[in-house]
Amino acid sequence: MKNLFNISGKIAVVTGGSRGIGAMIARGFVENGAKTYICSRKEKDVTETAKNLSRYGECIGITADLSTVAGIEKFVSDIAAREEKIDILVNNAGAVWAAPLDEFPETGWDKIMDINLKSVFYLTQKFLPLLRASVRDDNLARIINIASVDGLSVPDFETYSYSASKAAVIHMTRTLAKRLAGEKILVNAIAPGAFPSHMTKEILEKNKQAMLKKIPLARIGEPEDIAGAALYLSTRASAYVTGTTLIVDGGWVETK
Ligand SMILES: NC(=O)c1ccc[n+]([C@@H]2O[C@H](COP(=O)([O-])OP(=O)(O)OC[C@H]3O[C@@H](n4cnc5c(N)ncnc54)[C@H](OP(=O)(O)O)[C@@H]3O)[C@@H](O)[C@H]2O)c1
Repeated sequence: MKNLFNISGKIAVVTGGSRGIGAMIARGFVENGAKTYICSRKEKDVTETAKNLSRYGECIGITADLSTVAGIEKFVSDIAAREEKIDILVNNAGAVWAAPLDEFPETGWDKIMDINLKSVFYLTQKFLPLLRASVRDDNLARIINIASVDGLSVPDFETYSYSASKAAVIHMTRTLAKRLAGEKILVNAIAPGAFPSHMTKEILEKNKQAMLKKIPLARIGEPEDIAGAALYLSTRASAYVTGTTLIVDGGWVETK
């Protein structure tokens, strides 16, 4: 029982790992011995983060735009040129759009659905050969989809496409878990509450105190909170868990 959370020697891909939650998860993986690939659209950002994380282990940054299937195929082929298999895929890259109901634009719908939902499906599909290649009786491959508490409860903000995309990711996680269980590929999701990031910067600056009042544990999420959840869902500790969504929000949603 000593190595239940051992991720050492595994190969992981964390999409959108250049900052925020993706960088927190990538750091947790790298520090615990996993060779970790991160990506983002901005070469400078992803290179810099990969360089910083490489102080703790092995982290490689790749530039990619995951909003189209062509961009996803290019990203997967970049990884396939370097690796014969991957053990863990974290579908984390995402974006948010807020606008009043009467003005909500089509671009705010399509952009969010493309990166938050479509990319999760096609990254899974295109990475399957590399994930399948890592499966052994004692090594289940892992897919972790980063959803949100906004996919489980109605958000306070007018982020219509965002909350719909996250609810869809949670259900797609169940569907893919059922389909892939026989291939020893586990598919789970994490629904984070409030974590500091580029995405939440403005909301946290304006509403932090009000948000803290709603969170029973009375604090914003820290890197260890999300990295710990991802480590659990990547290791032997969770080998009997698939199709589930792990809520990491200080108790917010369950006590709403
Ligand atoms: N922070 C929270 O409190 C919170 C709560 C619930 C759920 N989440 C979820 O957690 C995930 C990460 O969010 P975050 O808060 O860490 O946001 P963030 O700081 O804005 O990070 C988003 C990441 O995704 C990348 N990205 C965005 N669009 C991309 C594209 N088309 N192709 C490739 N990469 C792309 C970004 O890099 P580039 O912009 O350089 O491409 C960046 O690395 C998202 O799925 C979000 O919905 C966050």
